[in-house]
Order: sequence, then structure tokens, then C-alpha cells
Amino acid sequence: MTVTVTLPADDPAALDEAARLLARGGLAAVPTETVYGLAADAAQGEAVARLYEAKGRPRFNPLIAHVDSLEMAERLVDLGGTGHALAHAFWPGPLTLVAPMRAGAGVASLVTAGLDTLAVRWPASPALTGLIARLGRPLAAPSANRSGAVSPTTAAHVRDGLDGRIDVILDGGPCRIGVESTIIRVVTAGRPLLLRPGGTPRADIEAVCGPLSAARPDSDRPDAPGQLASHYAPESPVRLNATQPRQGESYLAFGPRPEIVGCDVFNLSDRSDLAEAAANLFAGLRLLDKPGRVIAVAPIPEAGLGEAINDRLRRAAADRPIAS
Ligand code: TXA
Ligand code: MG
Repeated sequence: MTVTVTLPADDPAALDEAARLLARGGLAAVPTETVYGLAADAAQGEAVARLYEAKGRPRFNPLIAHVDSLEMAERLVDLGGTGHALAHAFWPGPLTLVAPMRAGAGVASLVTAGLDTLAVRWPASPALTGLIARLGRPLAAPSANRSGAVSPTTAAHVRDGLDGRIDVILDGGPCRIGVESTIIRVVTAGRPLLLRPGGTPRADIEAVCGPLSAARPDSDRPDAPGQLASHYAPESPVRLNATQPRQGESYLAFGPRPEIVGCDVFNLSDRSDLAEAAANLFAGLRLLDKPGRVIAVAPIPEAGLGEAINDRLRRAAADRPIAS
């Protein structure tokens, strides 16, 4: 058991302290514009091993290396023409690029789970980029939740899952976007692949690089190893496309609705705003997650951030693997 301290994410002294812990191989939860990440020094294999351990994450599921500049990204991977165009358009921001890793990138092999590609993101997060700058190296950071659970968008969510398993939580309040980054694999020949819809809408990306290919569906060798069918899952079962809650259900609503009585209701956005709904999604799922209840979810349009919201909801509703 480790004592997990919470420090303010906007305090330079707190960032100094967290950077010292990271340099010594520690683990720090850090707010980003998407969700809270759990950071470890990407160059230290032992630190990265502790990170997998703390999350209970299978080691075949690789991590994103976070950087604080395009130059740092280019030292790690060969972005190619398409990757450059996307990086220029969307970094810093909620976009992750998967590209061939360079020899001598200096990233522990556990980060890529042995793949020859590396996922790289420059986040719009002064706390995370502040730590990277202090360390002078990339930080590996998955979402700061136990593997398979709902991603955290507040420091309290992080503590719920990881208290006593990590060294420090930097509290920066609720995350602005609320769903994880969009992941694109850039390939030398052919269209870039959409590996995970996320905080940068598909249409914005396609305006820069043309149409995206869909990743192969989940299989033995999925293109995005972490895209397991069941993920982002609350304890409660989830029922999708529910226009009304039934007896025994709580309701995750979207859009203006008449009062529903006799049932817990959380409205993702009563003005049908998909950005607001994305920011509220994981907090809403956590709030309605109660033993013996089913979470019924209103239909969400597939446009804009709706694609990422519906992706997370489908995984939350998917059959769960047998708990081990
Ligand atoms: O917004 C985000 O992306 C957050 C914040 C903390 O940056 N991070 C995040 O990390 O969502 P994580 O580990 O929860 O999800 C990263 C996904 C996983 O599904 C993983 O399989 C995939 O990225 N991934 C990482 N490296 C990959 C690679 N080389 N090829 C394909 N997929 C990769
Ligand atoms: Mg995750």
C-alpha cells in the first residue's frame, strides 16, 4: 500500500514534487483535457511495469507516450506527411497518432507491448506538459482507472479506483472534454485508420486528411489492442437506445424531457449539446452505477462527438468477460 497524496495541479511546487516522484519511478495521476491520465516515466521499464500493475491492465495493451512538443514526438516516431498535417492541425489537443517507432526512441518496450509502432499525443494540459518539460522526457499515460472500468474525469474518480496504489493525484477539477483522444494510425500507403473515435470529431480530421478507414473489428489481433468489446464498464448492466426507463432502471437522459418520476435520472445535456454530453458522460455513468439497478441510456445522435459517446456506451453495454 502506498500513501496517495492529492496536490493542486496548477501549483508549480506541486508539479516539481510530482516530477521528482516520476523521476524516481513513481506514478502520478494528472488531469488532461480529455480524462485523467496515470503517468510514469516512459523510459523506465520498472515504472511502466508498476503502472500496468496499479491499473490491473493486461500487458499486451500498449500505452500512449505523451510529449510537450512536435520535436519530442518526431524523436519518437516517423509521423510522415499525413501525421504532420494532423499534428499541425490538432496538437496540442485530443488526438493520438500511432506511427512507426524510431530506433533509439528511448521508450521502454513495455510501453508499446512489443509492437513496432508507438502511440504519441501532445495534450492540451498545462499540468501534464509541465511534468514532461520538468522531466525532459515523454510520459506514458493511460487513463487513470482500474482496467476495464469507467475513465475518470475528476480527481475523486481517480481516488475511487487507485487510492493506495499510486503516489500522487494532481487535482485540476473536471476534465473539459470528458472522452479520451481520437486515435489515428498513419500509414505510408493508403488511408489513415481510425482506431478509436474520441475528442476530435471525425469530420474535423477528414477535413485535413481525407476519408479515414475503419479499423478492423475486434479480433484476435485488433488494430487497437485496447479496443476490447467490454470496456468503460460500470458494475450495473447498461441498456442502450432507451426512449423510456423501465421498472428498476435508472435513466441516462439526453435532450429536453418532461419530468420522470420514481427513478434516478441524470441528463447528459438537456439542451442536446453533444460537447456537454461528452463532458458529463463518465460522471453520469458513475453516478447511476448502483447495485441491483440497470442503467437505461437515451438514444444519442452519431454526429460530431456523438460517435465517441456511442462508442463508449456500446462498450459499457457489451457482455463482460468473466471476472477473474
Ligand atoms: O485521451 C487519452 O487518450 C487518454 C489521456 C490520458 O491521454 N489516454 C488514454 O489511454 O485513453 P488508454 O491507455 O486508456 O488508451 C490508449 C489506447 C488503448 O486502447 C491502446 O490499445 C491504444 O491506445 N494504443 C496504444 N498504443 C498503440 C499502438 N502502438 N497501436 C495501436 N493502438 C495503440
Ligand atoms: Mg483507458
